[in-house]
Amino acid sequence: MARRTNTNTETKQAGNPQPERTESMDRQKLIKRFEDEMAKVARPGADKLMDYIRKSDFYTAPASTKYHLACEGGLLQHSLNVLDALRGILAPVTKEDGTAAWEYRIAGKAIATIPDESVIIMALLHDICKTYFYGTSTRNVKNEQTGRWEKMPFYTVNDRMPLGHGPKSAMIIKQYTSLTNQEMYAIWHHMGFNGDRDNDAAVGQSIEQYPAVLALQTADMMASRFMETAQENRELFIDRPAPDAAGEWADAPATGEPDFQEAPPLMEGA
Ligand SMILES: [Fe+2]
Ligand SMILES: [Fe+2]
Repeated sequence: MARRTNTNTETKQAGNPQPERTESMDRQKLIKRFEDEMAKVARPGADKLMDYIRKSDFYTAPASTKYHLACEGGLLQHSLNVLDALRGILAPVTKEDGTAAWEYRIAGKAIATIPDESVIIMALLHDICKTYFYGTSTRNVKNEQTGRWEKMPFYTVNDRMPLGHGPKSAMIIKQYTSLTNQEMYAIWHHMGFNGDRDNDAAVGQSIEQYPAVLALQTADMMASRFMETAQENRELFIDRPAPDAAGEWADAPATGEPDFQEAPPLMEGA
């Protein structure tokens, strides 16, 4: 992760995110990290998939219109956040053949072993369905300081491939390369339960069959709910450049306190 410089602080309004430009150097770092991780995926067609990604708006698109990372490069940052969150809930192991993998452990017992390649694919590509998905428009917003109405840009949905969400991501990937069943189920059902009986039955069954489905859902929620705000990563999850000297951080150590709002107390009888 890298810090996204907010070049438009004075126009930022709570709950009314505007498309912003990511500082290009920082986004280049995110692109490099994304491509370095994807380079670890060694399977036929991965290069074709990367061609698709580079030609698409994957590196510039937001992650949502207004809910989380509604900024240029938001989808890229979100995908890397999900990778960090997913690795964070898994335990690193080395398989007998020497390849890197991750164990999904419950109560200290491994219920699934996920190759590092699969972790990368599931996390970085779960939202590839958001390519060619967003547009921009403008609306008039009153500048309270000048009293003048000004045109402000905002993100819209303009889905040029209206094929759904998780299944669409799996479909796009499979146009170019292959997916293991574990990867396909995890990406397909990454949105989790939604109250629809058929969907929820399929999600529940998939989780039992492939625990990685729940791991990816969890990591996705962790990223959007804990790591990201409407326009950038939360302070705790912004990577800073390496300090010139240790003393710099000793003088101003991070508090490590997440910027969470405390939940309101439950109503009696609720
Ligand atoms: Fe998604
Ligand atoms: Fe996501």
